[in-house]
Amino acid sequence: MKKILITGGAGFIGSHVVRKFVTKYPNYQIFNLDALTYAGNLENIADIENAPNYTFIKGDIVDGDFINNLFQEHQFDGVIHLAAESHVDRSITDPLSFVKTNVIGTMNLLNAAKTIWKDNSENKRFYHVSTDEVYGSLGAEGLFTETTSYDPNSPYSASKASSDHFVRAYGETYGLPYVITNCSNNYGTYHFPEKLIPLFINNIINNKPLPVYGDGKYTRDWLFVEDHAVAIDLVYHEGKNHHTYNIGGFNEWQNIDLVKLLCKLMDEKLGRTSGTSEQLITYVKDRPGHDLRYAIDASKINKELGWKPSVTFEQGLEKTIDWYLSNEKWLNNVTSGDYQKYYNEQYN
Ligand code: NAD
Ligand code: TYD
Repeated sequence: MKKILITGGAGFIGSHVVRKFVTKYPNYQIFNLDALTYAGNLENIADIENAPNYTFIKGDIVDGDFINNLFQEHQFDGVIHLAAESHVDRSITDPLSFVKTNVIGTMNLLNAAKTIWKDNSENKRFYHVSTDEVYGSLGAEGLFTETTSYDPNSPYSASKASSDHFVRAYGETYGLPYVITNCSNNYGTYHFPEKLIPLFINNIINNKPLPVYGDGKYTRDWLFVEDHAVAIDLVYHEGKNHHTYNIGGFNEWQNIDLVKLLCKLMDEKLGRTSGTSEQLITYVKDRPGHDLRYAIDASKINKELGWKPSVTFEQGLEKTIDWYLSNEKWLNNVTSGDYQKYYNEQYN
């Protein structure tokens, strides 16, 4: 039985990856390691918690001794590393916590994998799940390819760029078998309402202002999270060793257009008069260092592994909105307590 460690599996994307691996591969033993920070939530994976091939471990990747002991004990065959501090705005107010988790935490995992695989790294794999934000910002034209130079602008993207570099360096220097994927903005179910789409869905439900940064002309390339999980499964199993793959939605939207679409769909779902939610749009102070545009050229993963998104943006958004509207308890749980403090500090 293959033993695979997935880190950050109680978070947004990680929960979808854990669910996919636990249900699709009954012959794998899946270990989900998560510190359960504000972004981690066991409710995200409650449906598979009793599966016989699944084990949850609460722990911090920043604790090197703990990580070394865990790898010695379980002798993992593979690591899919998603645990991270992931929100740009939080990285602006607390950059050091991003260095700790995203850089030191990744280093601890790399060192532990290198140690247990030193005599035999055949069929082993260290998979780092990264972001397109490492490439910096595009102007009006062009796409990020796998050979675009790294040019991170936020403490978040700088920490992810750093961890990517260390993963690659461990591959070159110590022969660690690795793959990296750099993915565009995800959206979907179980998304913590600090990021644009779930935050705005929650605010529309509660008739609260929709804080659009700057002029709203910033552009992102959006991918449905379940399509990202499919890509991660493919790259984990079929990606070439020491390769990077870009993953994107072929789906660019200016923030303001996306927000207006969201308002329209929400009005329909909530039975509100058309135009009601748009009145909540409020332009607010811009994010410092705000990247103008991200857009991914995902032709490598498409040509080599046959991956492409399976849902249109309208289909994915509708599934997402429906899920939030029928999971009020989840939304209320994650927006109580510390969330209110964060929200007030960020927006008031
Ligand atoms: P998330 O913030 O929803 O979840 C992160 C998870 O990591 C949480 O469960 C949290 O408890 C856990 N975690 C945080 N610090 C930890 C620590 N020190 N030790 C152990 N666990 C810890 O993040 P997400 O949006 O699901 O992103 C997952 C990964 O995918 C990240 O590496 C992120 O950089 C990358 N990524 C995200 C996006 C996106 O749009 N969300 C896009 C591309 C890449
Ligand atoms: P976000 O979801 O934080 O993802 P990222 O910064 O990693 O791309 O933000 C997506 C876009 O939405 C980005 O251009 C910033 C903008 N934004 C707002 O205008 N208002 C908000 O309250 C948030 C959270 C984001």
